[in-house]
Order: sequence, then structure tokens, then C-alpha cells
Amino acid sequence: MIPLDEYHTLGLPVSTSALFLPSEEEIPEIACSATYIIGEGSNILPLGNLPPILCTRAIKGYQILRESISEVEVEVAAGENWDAWVRFCIAHGWHGLENLAAIPGTVGAAVVQNIGAYGVELAPFLVKVRGWNKRLEAWQELPAHTCKLSYRHSIFQEKGWQDDFIITRVTLRLKKSFEPVLTYPDVRKRVDKVRSHDPWYLYQVIRAIRSEKLPAQGSAGSFFKNPILSEAELQRLQQQAPEIPFYSMPDGSFKVPAAWLIDRAGLKGYRIGDAEVYEKQPLVLVNRGKATPNEFLALAREVQRIVWERWGIRLEPEVRFLEAQKTA
Ligand code: EPU
Repeated sequence: MIPLDEYHTLGLPVSTSALFLPSEEEIPEIACSATYIIGEGSNILPLGNLPPILCTRAIKGYQILRESISEVEVEVAAGENWDAWVRFCIAHGWHGLENLAAIPGTVGAAVVQNIGAYGVELAPFLVKVRGWNKRLEAWQELPAHTCKLSYRHSIFQEKGWQDDFIITRVTLRLKKSFEPVLTYPDVRKRVDKVRSHDPWYLYQVIRAIRSEKLPAQGSAGSFFKNPILSEAELQRLQQQAPEIPFYSMPDGSFKVPAAWLIDRAGLKGYRIGDAEVYEKQPLVLVNRGKATPNEFLALAREVQRIVWERWGIRLEPEVRFLEAQKTA
């Protein structure tokens, strides 16, 4: 068994029966031997010792596909670290990703999750994705509009694609001029308006905000998605709590902060064993030392149960739960 210490971020005492770290060329021959595909493991909850895993971390590199005075189209390998990639882009004068600073994980996982933070989402930058389709036994290129990107969702989380399609390269279209996005209240409050035109300054501000809210280790970022409600559902909630914050979505629905629902349900600091609802950001569940998969699972279920009883809202995990290997 291979310990997963370096392959997930929750710090659980779990292993895998086999771990593959292929280059892009090696994927076709080993893909079918792996049950799960992971990147850096920063968004998974292993529920015990896992069946064979393919980790994309060794797939590295980039190339410029097209360039004009105002834009660049660049293809980046799925195994590159996302935050290092954001810094690389800023250093090359390629802009747009600054608010996505310091998000853990790989470039490939950024697409799977359609990562978003501080008023920016990956989706509008995506041009296409290349990867190996296990079922078709073929390389495929998927244009962005076929990837079904929406809030923290993509086709790569759906049946028939999850663990069946291994993203190896991602093409992004970035701008050569920098326009700071200061729509998020936390960001607006923090920035010096004049300095905000420096992309490195904005990068550092975002990094600082994140580090104040998220624990340095033992977490998988936000554990649940922010629920998306219809107008009628929001109105029902407003009768219970008129002060509830909400954001209007382009399709006429409303997003409410799960952190707020959890906070007002009195769950900050709530603990099962060593798994805890983080005090500074209750959307995060953190390992306080020796937490087990079962403690995390029990805490997640308990948060869902209490939020359901208090607010009538079902929280959906953002973190992916990986089933343990069945023992004979
Ligand atoms: N809030 C509370 N109590 C708290 C903390 C927050 O009530 O202790 C409420 C406040 O109303 C606050 C609101 O929750 O305004 C939102 O909090 P925050 O700005 O921290 O953002 P979030 O909605 O909880 C999302 C993403 C984060 C991303 C931030 C910033 C999801 C699931 N999470 O969190 O992404 O960094 O916005 O844009 O959408 C991640 O996905 O792992 C992640 C960290």
C-alpha cells in the first residue's frame, strides 16, 4: 500500500493499492488500470484506503498557440500547479487570472471544478481541453462550449466522463492588458485603488485575503457549494432571516453563502473527533490533528442535517468523496 500523505490535503491516514504518475504519452497504456484520477488531491475526501489512482501531476509544460497585440492563446499541461501558472502568466504579461491566485490544485482540476473566486471564474478563459477518453480509447479535443461549465461544475464531473476522461492539456485565452476586477466586497475593501492597476499587487491582496480565511493545512477549501435558489426559495428564506446575504445570478436565480447558513446554525467550531467546522470560515472543514475519514464523513453529514433542519436547504458537497477499496 502507498500512503496518500502527499496526494491529498486533509491529512488523513489513508493509502492506495497503486499510484500511477504517467507522462501524457504513457496515459493510453495505464489509464484502464486506475479507478480514480486526481491532481494534487486538494478537493477530495478519501473515505478509506483507495483503489488504484492516476495522478496527473507529472504532465508538465506549455506552448503558445496564437498571439496578437491584445491576446494570447496558450496551451498548458494539466499537471502544472494552478497558482504557479497564475504567477507565470502575470510574469509574462498575460492577464485575467489574478483573482484566482493561490487556489490549490492543478490546471486540469481547475477546469474540472470550474474554479472561481473574488468575482472571477475560469470558464470565460477556456478555449478547449485535450485528453484521453478511456471508453473510446482515443485522444479528444473538446471546445469550451461542450464542457458544460457552470458554477463549480463541468462535464468532467458527470457520469461517463468522471474518471473516464483524463485531461492532459488546457487552452486558455488571456489578455495582454490588465484590468483589475474589484467587484467582490472583500477585495474592494482591501485594495488601494491606485495600486490596484499593478497585477502583482492585486495577486498579493487576494493571496492575503485567502490566507486569513483558509487554514494553512488540513483542509480541502470550501467543503460545500453555495446553494443556488429560485426567487420563491429565497423569499421563503428571507421570511426566516431578512438579513440573509444573496447574489443575483445571470439566469435569474440567487446564490446564498453556505458559510452564512452554517454560521447562523451555530456550527462554527463544531467538532466530531478531530474534524472541525473552521472558526474563521465555516464553509471549510479542517483536520485538527488525527481526524479519520469517518469523522470527516460524520461531520459533513451533521452539518448537512443541521442546516436542513434550521433552513430547509440541502447543502451539496463541493469536495469529491472517494469510496474506499472493497476488501474481500
Ligand atoms: N460568512 C459568514 N460567516 C463567516 C464567513 C462568511 O456568515 O464566518 C458569510 C458572509 O456573508 C460572507 C459570505 O459568507 O460575505 C461569503 O464568504 P466568503 O467571501 O469567504 O466566500 P464563500 O462564498 O464562502 C466562495 C468560494 C471560495 C472562494 C470565495 C471567494 C464556493 C463554494 N466557495 O466562498 O472558493 O475563495 O467564495 O470568492 O463557491 C473553494 O471553492 O474551495 C473556495 C475556497
